[in-house]
Parts: sequence; C-alpha cells; structure tokens
Amino acid sequence: MKPKVLLTHDLFPEAIELIQKEADIEFCTSGRPPQKSEIITKIKNKQGLLCLLVDQIDKEIIDAASRLKVIANCAVGYNNIDVEYARSKGIYVTNTPGVLTDTTADLTWALILAVARRLPEADRFSREGQFTGWQLDLLLGQEVTGKQLGIVGMGRIGRAVALRAQGFQMKIVYSDPCPLSSEQERKYQAHRVSLEELLRTSDFVTLHLPLNAQTHHLISSRELSLMKKEAILINVSRGPIVDEKALAEALEKREIWGAGLDVYEREPQIEAKLKQLNNVVLLPHIGSASRETRLKMALTAAKNLIQGIQGKKPANAV
Ligand code: GLV
Repeated sequence: MKPKVLLTHDLFPEAIELIQKEADIEFCTSGRPPQKSEIITKIKNKQGLLCLLVDQIDKEIIDAASRLKVIANCAVGYNNIDVEYARSKGIYVTNTPGVLTDTTADLTWALILAVARRLPEADRFSREGQFTGWQLDLLLGQEVTGKQLGIVGMGRIGRAVALRAQGFQMKIVYSDPCPLSSEQERKYQAHRVSLEELLRTSDFVTLHLPLNAQTHHLISSRELSLMKKEAILINVSRGPIVDEKALAEALEKREIWGAGLDVYEREPQIEAKLKQLNNVVLLPHIGSASRETRLKMALTAAKNLIQGIQGKKPANAV
C-alpha cells in the first residue's frame, strides 16, 4: 500500500503525476485556502502534507497529524508553518529555494522601474484618453541609472537584484547580519552598511529577507522617516516586515517618494489608504509567478514530499 499524502490545493499535472507514482493523494476541497477544520480531519492518516504559503500550519494541525513525516511548502518563505514545533515532533519542513531567485529578482526590477517611471499611472493616463501630445514635463519620474540601491537582506534574491543593478550602473549597499566575503562583495559590487545608513543614503530600498520575530515591522515610522524624500521602497518579501499603516501615511504625506509592493500585512487585504494613492504600485503577490518557475516550485515541493514520506532527509529541509 502506498503512503497517503494531503495536498491543500491542486498542483500542475506534472507534479501530481510525480507524487501519484509514490503516494495516494487526497485533496482539500473546502476553499482556497481550505478551512483549518478540513486539514485537521484529513491530516490524521497522512504521512505527507504539501501546502502553499496561504495555509497556516500551526500546532493544532501538527498535533492532529500523528503519522506525519514531512510538510512540503510550495514557496521559499515558510513563516506560515510552525517549524520549531514540527521539528520537535520529528517532522521535516521543506521549502523551494533557488528555483524562484531570478524570477523574483526580475519582478523586483519591474517594480523599481514601474514606481520610478510611474508606469501604471502612465498606462491609466493613456487609456483614459488624456494623452494629447508630448509635453516636456509630462509624468516626470525618478532617474534610476547611477542612483544608490540599498538591499536589505543579501541572500540569493538580494544578490540577484544586485547583479541586475550593475546594468544600471548603481552604487549598491546592503545590510545583512552575515557579511558577504570580500570576493562576493567584488562580484556584486556591494558594500555592507548598517540598516540605518542604508535607509538614510539610498535612493531605492528593497527588502529581501524572511519574516520572523526579528524582522516583523522592521520598517516602521522611524525607519521611513530616515529615508530620503525622493526615495522608493520596494517589498517583495513578506508584508508584515513593513508597517503598512505607517507606510501609507509616509506616502500620503510624501515623506518618501513612492513604493512598490507585492506583499501585504494582512493578505489578501490591502490597506485601504494605499489603494487611493498614486505613488504606490500594488501587485497581488506574483513575485515568482512565471509559468516556468511556478512549475519548478511545484516539482521541487513534490520531490521534497516524496523524499520525506520515504524516510529520507528531503533536499530542501529547512
Ligand atoms: C513566495 O512568496 C515564496 O515565498 O515563495
């Protein structure tokens, strides 16, 4: 008899086929995301769980899962899972690092350019029939080339963002508890500074770090007040790293010039004030959303799940 696994959502057929060779799959059906009560009921006889970042896998679910060996998250971030508790029960938690690095760095750059050059506003302007002719001062934005980019969190994605910044001849600074080696600093042309200095001196500040107790509201009123008036903040990591109310206020009062967000504090809700402002570009958490990358994420999660139910240490155990 094959081991049983629970999938909180449907996946691409390629990933389903892979799992079906090794396990019997049951799906959650009570919604997107499914209700917690459904996960609790269905997890009881399962050896593996494959979930998405919208599924909150807490103590109660883990306690209901007496046979569980692995929780495979189809995301690089895993703040939706009580990892410590799972670990204390001998359950592996896995993520999907690496496969989404470039895609997420590309989206970061799409946001930098969209905010700096006011692309969504310009698109609306054109569609609304307001384009009546070239004007010297129409929709003026911020120059990107040659400016200073501050990268908060110099992991895989932060470094991929830095590589792209070299094409824009930017000065790159970063803050991270772990310094890069001097060889890496040369490769990424990046110089380590304190968070405070990064905020005070950068024209663009971009966040690439995991959400945890230390990074919750890392950027709040005080940090925003340190930033330049012309600065732009980009967040493609996790919403609660930024105090959204404080950000909305700073944008409204023009204490900073603009922001680009792909993630929110209370997803899928977005702070009402943000939606009224023109100087913020709002995306629906699509950092890794290319067809190729989402498929790779699903396949990586599927492989981690299979390794876990087979009693092997999964390649991407966190
Ligand atoms: C997306 O946000 C991810 O963590 O993969």
